[in-house]
Amino acid sequence: MKSWTRKERYISLSKERLVDLKKLHDSIKNNRWRTFFHLQPVTGLMGDTNGFSFFNGKWHLFYQWFPYGGVHGLKHWYHVESKDLLNWHNVGLGIAPSNDKDNQGVFSGSGYVEQDTLYLPYTGNKRDENWIRYPYQMMAKMDKDGKITKLEKELIGPINGYSEHQRDPKLFKEGDYYYILIGVQDLEGKGKFLFLRSKQIETDWEVYGELKIQGYDDFGFMVECPDIEKIDDKWILLFSPQGLKAKGEYFNNVYNNTYFIGDLDLETLTFIPDSELKELDRGFDFYAAQCTSDPNDQNHIYLSAWCGLPDSVYEPIEELGYSGLQVFTRELTIKDGKLIQMPIDNYEALKGNCYINSDTSINGALKGPSILEIKELEGDFEVDLCNFKVNYDANNKKLVMDRGQMTNQLNIDFGLTRTITLENDLKDLLILLDTSIIEIFINKGEYVATARIFPNEDENGYSILMNKGNIQMYDALRSVTDDFVIYPSEDK
Ligand code: FRU
Repeated sequence: MKSWTRKERYISLSKERLVDLKKLHDSIKNNRWRTFFHLQPVTGLMGDTNGFSFFNGKWHLFYQWFPYGGVHGLKHWYHVESKDLLNWHNVGLGIAPSNDKDNQGVFSGSGYVEQDTLYLPYTGNKRDENWIRYPYQMMAKMDKDGKITKLEKELIGPINGYSEHQRDPKLFKEGDYYYILIGVQDLEGKGKFLFLRSKQIETDWEVYGELKIQGYDDFGFMVECPDIEKIDDKWILLFSPQGLKAKGEYFNNVYNNTYFIGDLDLETLTFIPDSELKELDRGFDFYAAQCTSDPNDQNHIYLSAWCGLPDSVYEPIEELGYSGLQVFTRELTIKDGKLIQMPIDNYEALKGNCYINSDTSINGALKGPSILEIKELEGDFEVDLCNFKVNYDANNKKLVMDRGQMTNQLNIDFGLTRTITLENDLKDLLILLDTSIIEIFINKGEYVATARIFPNEDENGYSILMNKGNIQMYDALRSVTDDFVIYPSEDK
């Protein structure tokens, strides 16, 4: 694979280089791993979900973007839009590095709507000539015409008492205050959560204090992309800790995206979890999840996340000049104290022709991206899709996902399989299979497992072995456009 020098990685977007990007897009747009219904980068690397929000009648999602190749480099925000969270189109560049405080990257951040403005707090990754990093929490704003401008002054500069790792602002309001939650690393090298607070959204931000999580104090060496949402009368704290040790079937990815459900006390800065630390996704590739809701309908909480991981390699497509996806948008609910994650309801609209409806074991050739609904299962079960295998042992309630039989292997140092010991018998699976990602929703969203996969041309078979159950397989329709858009059009 091509190795990238720092100079090549830290090139910002410019009109002079549009020709190169067009060439890159032309060279990737027809390959068979371009997705049908998952957001993918126009060119280059797609990373974390940023600025996910509902504003001015549309859903907005930005992603961490390095335009020129499938590797981490100078980060921009790229903007996509949707009316229904299903059909997305490319808007173009959202935020680019442009000043002294974000000269080496517009890092991750969130979206917050107030009146006619979408606020987009982000981390400015400033580096000096010796490549020393200085983190700045910055703010951009989008108006109803889609115009994005940056506040000139930072919300807050590098904070004393912490290392250079201070980033990923999540902005929200409770009572009289606006709060920003960021992930930081303390001077002992431990990952922490830090709150900032202000009564004015654009100014007067001060450090409020560290959030203590009752019963826990080890979140590895850094906490990335914290997010906090209210669901009914509970809070859910989502974050991507780095450096947790693998524990049996848990935390086996290089880094994992985890959560707590519990209560938040903003007076004492304490989060009281109702249960242990859990992984949001039990598969191979899932990170930096971010949630949002329509400010006028906060009963529905939606989640997007990067289907990819830091410090990992996705060679088959990196070689071609791009990398990363967003998972299919999920809706979160809490049922009997447990987090349930299901694809948004209108995934139903993705269903084309039902090409299999079977009550017995069956095999054949896949018709392409497919949606599988498997119901009323009893006993052992096995499904193989493009050599990605899922096996369920009913006696032990163990579900094993095996990526190791595929020709293109990924990040094998972190293992070829993932195991989930289910609490209840396996009855129901919903599988979203796109050209290069598989998402498995287990027992109506009690668990979800996501994997990036790169099946070769001859890996197009399916086989289902079941004791008892019913399977329906549908063609999946396209819902993401793949237009070459780099700069937003002037006339919106
Ligand atoms: C997580 C992360 C964030 C950071 C961004 C930079 O993947 O490292 O902490 O803001 O990516 O791209």
